[in-house]
Amino acid sequence: LHSTLSTEEKLQSICDLLRSKVTHYDWVGFYFHKEDEKVLELAQYSGTPTDHTIIPFGKGICGQVAVSNQNFVVPDVKAQDNYIACSLTVKSEIVIPVFVNGKNIGQIDIDSETLNPFTEKDERFLEWVCSEVGKILVLNC
Ligand code: SME
Repeated sequence: LHSTLSTEEKLQSICDLLRSKVTHYDWVGFYFHKEDEKVLELAQYSGTPTDHTIIPFGKGICGQVAVSNQNFVVPDVKAQDNYIACSLTVKSEIVIPVFVNGKNIGQIDIDSETLNPFTEKDERFLEWVCSEVGKILVLNC
């Protein structure tokens, strides 16, 4: 499928769409691995700007997903000790890895101002979103 939108524009649209259409998604962003430096780097996002544009592997919820390769659902951020606060209004978070050819190359990170809002429906939906993102990154389709 040919498209005139760049990869960056597509990822930005995904962030904007998710944040505007899903009431409990208050901040939506993509972090991608900088493999040589073992850090995550913030790419496109929708919501309040964050200071955390670089996150070392292992640090925070995002950094943990970079090494675990697994979904991380946080119903209540106050209950996490390895957590990086971006905003005092955030109560919960979900991070789903993006795989390309079976390799974890980044993630979608969603913050919510609602306590315990994420269900398995969010996980399945966001896994699908991330698989589409994987295709965009490889083929721009
Ligand atoms: N809370 C994340 C940091 C990223 S901000 O939510 C945008 C974490 O603990 O990794």
